[in-house]
Amino acid sequence: VPVQPFDMIVFGATGDLARRKILPALFHRWCDGQIPQTSRILAAAREDMTTEEFLERAREFINGAKGEDKWSAFCERVSYTPVDAKGEAPGWGALKSALDPQASKARLFYLALPPSIYGSVCAAIAAHGLNTPGSRIVLEKPIGHDFHSARLINEAVGQAFDEDAIFRIDHYLGKETVQNLLVLRFANMLFEPVWNAAGVDHVQITVAETLGAGKRAAYYDRAGALRDMVQNHLLQLLCLVAMEPPASLEGDAVRAEKLKVLRALRLIGPDEARTGIVRGQYGAGLIGQEAVEGYGEEVGEATRTETFVALRADIDNWRWSGVPFYLRTGKRMATRRSEIVIQFKPVPHDVIQADAGRLQPNRLVIRLQPDEGVKLMLMTKDPGPGGMRLRYVPLNLSYAEAFEADYPDAYERLLMAVVRGNLALFMRRDEVEAAWRWTDAVIAAWREAGLALHPYPAGTDGPPQALQLMARDGRDWYDGH
Ligand code: BG6
Repeated sequence: VPVQPFDMIVFGATGDLARRKILPALFHRWCDGQIPQTSRILAAAREDMTTEEFLERAREFINGAKGEDKWSAFCERVSYTPVDAKGEAPGWGALKSALDPQASKARLFYLALPPSIYGSVCAAIAAHGLNTPGSRIVLEKPIGHDFHSARLINEAVGQAFDEDAIFRIDHYLGKETVQNLLVLRFANMLFEPVWNAAGVDHVQITVAETLGAGKRAAYYDRAGALRDMVQNHLLQLLCLVAMEPPASLEGDAVRAEKLKVLRALRLIGPDEARTGIVRGQYGAGLIGQEAVEGYGEEVGEATRTETFVALRADIDNWRWSGVPFYLRTGKRMATRRSEIVIQFKPVPHDVIQADAGRLQPNRLVIRLQPDEGVKLMLMTKDPGPGGMRLRYVPLNLSYAEAFEADYPDAYERLLMAVVRGNLALFMRRDEVEAAWRWTDAVIAAWREAGLALHPYPAGTDGPPQALQLMARDGRDWYDGH
């Protein structure tokens, strides 16, 4: 379904994010016919170059893509203006005159820039009169480095844009399977009655990557896995699993429920940190057949930044009292795998007394990527003679097998959601700040507790201490066996 015509001004258009994600996403939506012909993309960045040069460079990430033949038609909708996003440079005037004054067109500003300058760019947008009453702004994570800096950024952006016009991206909310989580929970009767402390033993959320810090080492080394992944992506997943049913999928209905979860997260203190948090950093190792450097070599010095973190989170509310949420994420792990596992309580009494096979609890395994799918693990009888032999098998919904459609990448979906004004897929100010409050407490606790940084070889599942984190509670990470 086509969206309304828009002008999208992309600041930082020559940067990695814009070239790798934003432009290809817009191009793919264009190829699918979702972007009306009159829409325009106004790319802006500091470098002095022509639109042709800009497009030539942008093409690198389109080469070989489906619909490559539509590239030149798409290019007609793109122009490049050199602008110093912070300063007084003449580019601002050029940008303003390039904008369509038509009120029927949506006007969107995309800041693919370092968050530290969000405030000054917003001030410049306002000072040059570029924002109209209906215009919207899109911000990338991370919004700040901690609660305090996030608040300053939010304040500054709030001077130029109303909260309802601010779209803070967490690209995990644009993933197909993450959206399906809402459908799974709220469009099926089956799960909700047991989706609570009476039915659920615990929840595991794993986001494992094979990538290292790579070119982003300068940013990453100041952030670490907790700030880079847990504060946003993993907490958002936790919220979608844990929140109460919203009255509708309208933006504030969903966001209010997520906020309640974030506010109910128990703040971790130094004592809980000692047993409930594991920090790790990868060393050299093998990813598949490829030998890769350790984190220290990649960054160029030995630092104490964590590239892996596993922790136990508790939600102090009625529904989740006593149900731990175990979160873990790491770079340079054995395989790329993002998964949510809801482990249900064991049956209250073993009627079967099987001759063979262990009685295992039901698990709902939601695979976010790759090989998107949903599995419900059940106990069944191994067919045939030979007594009661139990087998633990999946009811398996594999996206690749069940659906033929090619679904859009997270950025494609989110950009179109901005044009539509669908705020439900974006983080509200209070959510981001609540997530930072909890994250800041985690960091303060591990500093006070003097937590060790455990090494793990690249290409493994992280430090063995992460296994103990769950073993201590009599549980283990579910890796599909
Ligand atoms: C980003 C993080 O937000 O998410 C990166 O900054 C990480 O460090 C990326 O690699 C993971 O996204 P995806 O979609 O590949 O799981």
